Amino acid sequence: MYHDFNYEATLGSSLRAQWELDDVLSSDQELDFTRRFLPESLARTAALNTLNPLEQRVLNQISAHQYLCIFGVVEEFILPFLLDHARPHLLGDDWRVRAILNFATEEAKHIHLFKRFHEAFVRGFPVETRMIGPSEAIGAEILRHDPLAVGLVILMIEWMTQQHYLGSIRDDGDIDPLFKSLMRHHWMEEAQHAKLDTLIVDALAEGRTEQQIDKAIDEFFEIGGFLDEGLCQQAHFNMDALEKVIGRKLPNRADIISQQHQAARWTYIGSGMVHERFKSTLESLSPRAAQRIAEAAPNFA
Ligand SMILES: [Fe+2]
Ligand SMILES: [Fe+2]
Repeated sequence: MYHDFNYEATLGSSLRAQWELDDVLSSDQELDFTRRFLPESLARTAALNTLNPLEQRVLNQISAHQYLCIFGVVEEFILPFLLDHARPHLLGDDWRVRAILNFATEEAKHIHLFKRFHEAFVRGFPVETRMIGPSEAIGAEILRHDPLAVGLVILMIEWMTQQHYLGSIRDDGDIDPLFKSLMRHHWMEEAQHAKLDTLIVDALAEGRTEQQIDKAIDEFFEIGGFLDEGLCQQAHFNMDALEKVIGRKLPNRADIISQQHQAARWTYIGSGMVHERFKSTLESLSPRAAQRIAEAAPNFA
């Protein structure tokens, strides 16, 4: 076995690591808009030398708005996926049932927390930033795929949040402490989710032939392509918001959109694709699956 995860131990760690919304952000707390919100490793705004430092900071904050909305969207399809997965096993292993239901409860709490941050963002930011959606339509499109493909996308997302927090602590100390705390608290619980999702993927892959796994990887790429189109659209919306705030049209708008789209590809897809733990799960499913995803990963770097 390539891991030693089990439901009982993971549930125990989850219950010990739990926090409440108010530990991270109370409903009337304000974000500090004099600071950047996202680590540079994700926002990649400091590299845009046609923007002055103030404009770079505004774009960093718009990128953080995107982070709140994208995680809102993805957690909204993770929740029904977990409930669907738990339902056939309700009379089985008690640790498994409790661990998966607790996982679902935590994701519902994360949705709530991302919404609370979103409300604080809207209160403090001068313009409205459009967001792709609605999240129900995005979720429905993803969930119509093979559960193994969806499970792999979710596993990739769970591991990527580990990388995001590590990126944020490696960054200089100047990002908004509330955002840093959001990433840390999310990371604490996602670390346990990633283990449970590994067990879910193992269960969904059990007994499948190489050909059936290959088919699931095709669908994994379909979902990835669909998410990527959304990220491209979002990069356009983000640029509209930036131009509105700074009150000028950017002459190199297309270049900035493409650079920011690439930053989002890394944040929401690539950073999970190259995670060692995600790669180990793929290897255990099939070396060919691992190889196909490794070949695609540089497009999302
Ligand atoms: Fe989450
Ligand atoms: Fe999660």
